[in-house]
Amino acid sequence: MCGIVGYLGDQQAYPILIKGLHRLEYRGYDSAGVSMISQSGELNVYKAKGKVVALEESVKNDDISGTIGIAHTRWATHGEPNATNAHPHYSQSKNLSLVHNGIIENYKTLRTELESRGYTFCSETDTEVLVQLVECMMDTHKSDLFTAVQFALKSVVGAYAIAILEKSNPDQLICARKGSPLIIGVGKNENGNAEYYLGSDATPIVEYTNQVIYLNDEEIAIMDRKGRLDIVNLQNVQQTPHLHTLQMNLDQLEKGGFPHFMLKEIWEQPNALRTCIRGRLNKEQKDVILSGIIDNKEKFKNCRRIIICACGTSWHSALIGKYFIEEACQIPVEVEYASEFRYRNPVIFEDDVVIAVSQSGETADTLAAIQLAKSKGAFLYGICNVIGSSIARATDSGTYLHVGAEIGVASTKAFTGQVITLSLLGLVIAKVRNTLSDDMYNMLVDELFMIPDKMQWTLENNKNIDEFAQKFTYCKNFIYLGRGYNYPVALEGALKLKEISYIHAEGYPAAEMKHGPIALIDEEMPVVVIAPRQGMYDKVVSNIQEIKSRNGKIISVVTEGDTIVKEMSDYSFVIPDTRDCFVPMLAVIPLQLLSYYVATAKGRNVDQPRNLAKSVTVE
Ligand code: F6R
Repeated sequence: MCGIVGYLGDQQAYPILIKGLHRLEYRGYDSAGVSMISQSGELNVYKAKGKVVALEESVKNDDISGTIGIAHTRWATHGEPNATNAHPHYSQSKNLSLVHNGIIENYKTLRTELESRGYTFCSETDTEVLVQLVECMMDTHKSDLFTAVQFALKSVVGAYAIAILEKSNPDQLICARKGSPLIIGVGKNENGNAEYYLGSDATPIVEYTNQVIYLNDEEIAIMDRKGRLDIVNLQNVQQTPHLHTLQMNLDQLEKGGFPHFMLKEIWEQPNALRTCIRGRLNKEQKDVILSGIIDNKEKFKNCRRIIICACGTSWHSALIGKYFIEEACQIPVEVEYASEFRYRNPVIFEDDVVIAVSQSGETADTLAAIQLAKSKGAFLYGICNVIGSSIARATDSGTYLHVGAEIGVASTKAFTGQVITLSLLGLVIAKVRNTLSDDMYNMLVDELFMIPDKMQWTLENNKNIDEFAQKFTYCKNFIYLGRGYNYPVALEGALKLKEISYIHAEGYPAAEMKHGPIALIDEEMPVVVIAPRQGMYDKVVSNIQEIKSRNGKIISVVTEGDTIVKEMSDYSFVIPDTRDCFVPMLAVIPLQLLSYYVATAKGRNVDQPRNLAKSVTVE
């Protein structure tokens, strides 16, 4: 949540900062701001409520010169979204400006202390407290900015990624992180002079350099125009910067002719999953190789149980993973909301394997959940999409999704990427524990291999959802039903609809309807039922009958060739036949498209729905 961009070099900073903010806008879009040290030596700060375009509009007549700058796009935590609370914030003397992503938990105490020393505040934010604190430390200790930042961060409780400018020192950029992500891009201009870029993720950086440093918790970095790049931790111990090469290309960050990232990412799924399984699923040799497991086979062989921690859509894929791993590997799997798990003193054994599933790899609750599990001695495995993310680095081993950057706030290709990765993991564990017959194992490998082609078929054969979706814009509620592997799909379909169309939607296990929710059914209520031929088909047919007899409108997801459910339905989406356990990767596609088209018909901003941010780095 919140996006930070920074630049120090020979180029004009403003265009780089603004482009970077657009790339990071998915992390928060209620206000934005930039700060540059101008050619004449002024430390300017410009801010606007709303999206980055509002900021661009508002600075048209201002001095936006300067070759050093920081910028921010905000998802409000402390203080309403307005220009005053937007970042960057000045210090009292206006010698410093600072941007921040995270939450300073003890900001009230710090603010009271600073007020007693004569500091006054313009905003309600915890960030302004931070910049004032740094200035106060400079004054108190008569120190330079770098040392003052160290002092200040030692008295801060909470999470932060910060970048800070000093008017009297226009040749240096300072940043730090704890709990919120921050990446430093290291480049060189054509004259061989050093250039530095900052980003909350790699998207604002990749255009200029593919050499990056992932800052670790409690590290502070100082960069200057002469090429100095020093990283020191809060204890003042010098750290060795490790350069990584980004595996991202610019195409992933463009809409590629689609009106929205979400639609592009829905259509990317077949190829994204092909990339995900490439080199891992070997059809000829009937083998599954996950390099993250090769050295840790014993952990999975001997573990007492698996606990999967995740949030939101990732929690839904984790639930599908649980069903598959329990069925294929005969090992108990618990799926936990990371936000609950971290605060309830759960029982964790040293021979547990704890898996974190997270697209961004930055979700604060998931990160905290695995840190708790680590403190109790469990083996940690990460399933993340974003390479070099905090969760990927905090786990003992893991597997990347490799589905490419997901920019749309509503997760689509990461969900199916997570499901296929958990299926690969289940197959590897089944092999290690010898829980599947060779025939079954081989058949599952063959079937999994065909999933990307079947996804393509599903996309091609559900193009008319566009027109169909128009009929539902008036709806206030939707129900989604599924059983077995498709219950999590019902949850995911409902989440997709509510987050981008703002229509209330609930997912239920189909058989639970009669225990209460059936009271909601009337002729106004669309009920989306996932009813593939595989898995409890007859039971789902009975559930549909119960709804029909109460005049509910049935929208079904059925297997190609189905007639029974199709005839009972007001509308059906068709998917190809596959094994029960792999249906979710196909069945979710029409539901993603349905939510996309309902939301666009309602005029919603599907890529940046209200109140949401892609990467939830606060609790
Ligand atoms: C929904 C969605 C969220 C995320 C959740 C976890 O479309 O995207 O529910 O799934 O915030 O995020 P990650 O997977 O990054 O940990």
